[in-house]
Amino acid sequence: MKSLFDPPSDAADRILELRRQILHHDRLYYVEARPEISDRDYDALLDELIRLEKENPELLTPDSPSQRVGGEPIGTFETVTHSVPMLSLANTYSRQEVEDFDRRVRQGLEGATPSYVCELKYDGVAMSLTYRDGLLVQAATRGDGQTGDDVTANVRTIHAVPLRLDHPTIGTVTVRGEVYMLNETFLEINRQAEARGEKTYANPRNLTAGTLKQKDPKAVARRRLEFVAYWIDTQDADLRSHSGNLELLATMGFPISPATATCSNVDEIMVFLSEWDERRFDLPFQIDGVVIKVDALRQQAELGSVARSPRWAIAYKYEARKAQARLLDITLQVGRTGVVTPVAELQPTLLAGSTISRATLHNEDFVHELDLRIGDMVVIEKGGDVIPKVSGVVAELRPQQAQPWSMPHVCPCDRHSHIHRPDGSAQWFCNDGKCPWQLRRTLEHFASRDAMDIDGLGEKAIEQFIEAGLLTSIADIYRLGDRQDEILRLERWAPKSLQRLLDGIEESKTRPFERVLFALGIRFVGEGVAKILARSFASMDALQGATREHLTSVNEIGHAIAESIIAYMSEEDNREQISSLRRCGLQMESAAGVVTSNEMAGMTFVFTGELTRMTRRQAEEAVEQRGGKASGSVSKKTSFVVAGESAGSKLEKARALGVPVISQEEFLAMITSPGSS
Ligand code: IVH
Repeated sequence: MKSLFDPPSDAADRILELRRQILHHDRLYYVEARPEISDRDYDALLDELIRLEKENPELLTPDSPSQRVGGEPIGTFETVTHSVPMLSLANTYSRQEVEDFDRRVRQGLEGATPSYVCELKYDGVAMSLTYRDGLLVQAATRGDGQTGDDVTANVRTIHAVPLRLDHPTIGTVTVRGEVYMLNETFLEINRQAEARGEKTYANPRNLTAGTLKQKDPKAVARRRLEFVAYWIDTQDADLRSHSGNLELLATMGFPISPATATCSNVDEIMVFLSEWDERRFDLPFQIDGVVIKVDALRQQAELGSVARSPRWAIAYKYEARKAQARLLDITLQVGRTGVVTPVAELQPTLLAGSTISRATLHNEDFVHELDLRIGDMVVIEKGGDVIPKVSGVVAELRPQQAQPWSMPHVCPCDRHSHIHRPDGSAQWFCNDGKCPWQLRRTLEHFASRDAMDIDGLGEKAIEQFIEAGLLTSIADIYRLGDRQDEILRLERWAPKSLQRLLDGIEESKTRPFERVLFALGIRFVGEGVAKILARSFASMDALQGATREHLTSVNEIGHAIAESIIAYMSEEDNREQISSLRRCGLQMESAAGVVTSNEMAGMTFVFTGELTRMTRRQAEEAVEQRGGKASGSVSKKTSFVVAGESAGSKLEKARALGVPVISQEEFLAMITSPGSS
């Protein structure tokens, strides 16, 4: 049995043994991807090593795996000069461009036949590692290619980066590769950040770059970064080919691209490219393409480089707009007008730089046309960088027991009211006036920026207030002032945020009549229609009393809009709501004194630059009240461009088109001159 006072040599032996074991398991885990022990057992080895080194500080070495937990905070990152510049790659997107590359290579080699190596293009951050006599001494970012930042302390925490090469070398060895993050790690870190109310990152590359810039290596250690090597330079070995270099890197203990192919012509390259275009979704990390390199280093040297890119390699980039995601569920969403829409609930998946977890399925027929089933692997697409849509199903990946989906015939809210699909309509509707979902959407719309713009009353607050029974109608918003104690008992609410909300509510009472009209959320009454209505029926009373004929006699008000207004105004609940909003002090008449006129009829104004004499909305309203139009873009038809301070491209365009440009003062003079009201 050992005594407590074992001579340090025992500790030294044990430390060496622990380091050997940890290194062995690191390699199995990070390089060979076949771990033999559990995370827990691994942690136990590491804990023991850290404890022994603490007790015997003289035995601590810089290459000890214990050093991965991160050292002291860094002040600033020193700039380092790369001994060999770090180049970037020219991008290609088509077979044609790959053929062009191949032709240039063959020309450059004057008839000699090249052999190519294809490997995955990791979407991460390039890193240059320097080893001296086998020990990691420096890690630097690419920077501008000539000089980068010294991030050694941070990179030391990355388990996949050997602190000591697993191969005897003398002198300097430079290894380059990509620091990246697994999708799973990225999603988890974002989930945690979201839960803490902190900012989330768009994609693993941004998070990786942000992590490497951290000043606290301990924080970096917690982020679980990965590394893959793709380049080596050393005097201490006879380097002949890129493929041989990859093998050497693996022997030294570096992870390398799990997929490589040696190709002798464009056809073979294209096979690899299309194979990985499909399979890239199965990878646990993001790639943005494939790198194609001339294999023989002698040929690489012969080809050299142009500007900042080598002539011996190119990147082939994949379209990032499609991804596959598991369909976890199909839920229903209720809009403020009662339309019930099916929504795809997806396993959070990265698509063109953002994490997608939901996508609209439009309507019942859409789901049936694709025969979407819960559990399916679906294709999600982003068109023009907007809302993602589900565009197909991967038939081979359908789980055996997946059942066809059928539209539930009840509202998803807790009242479970029956929903119906009118003849000829693709949509289902919930007609329950007390549906809490509709209420939520109605309130969200009412308080939104373009409607009543109530500061402090966002989606989260609305949800809380509905749940707490503080909001059962729009008018309740204006009674929140009587329920301050209850609000302060809710999570996240403090006197300061409450005051902001109350001020916001008070201020909303000054919004003009047309905004009130829009905010009510009457079907088909958008911002534009609300303006027309407010101009043609100067008050709520007039609008409530309007007949179908009266309504449709207004230019731009068609049948559907008129019907919708009549239906809305004839509902008892709605009339009552309007009365209580009137009592609360909302504007129910077009502002006095700005009686509509036609003096700007047929004219179009564009406001550009920073307006200092009035807000943009005031200016636009002034034009509209005079029968004119305010537009966001300049064309030959524009009557005047009103240029505020530091106006830019619109001003230039106006000048180019010969559109008259006036100042804010000239505009004010126009609207206040005699006879203008
Ligand atoms: S080779 C001179 N191989 O892509 C050639 N680069 O646009 C140096 N990258 O800065 C790069 N995976 O950060 C190479 N297998 C791979 C790569 C790869 C990702 C990155 C690297 C480089 C950028 C070039």
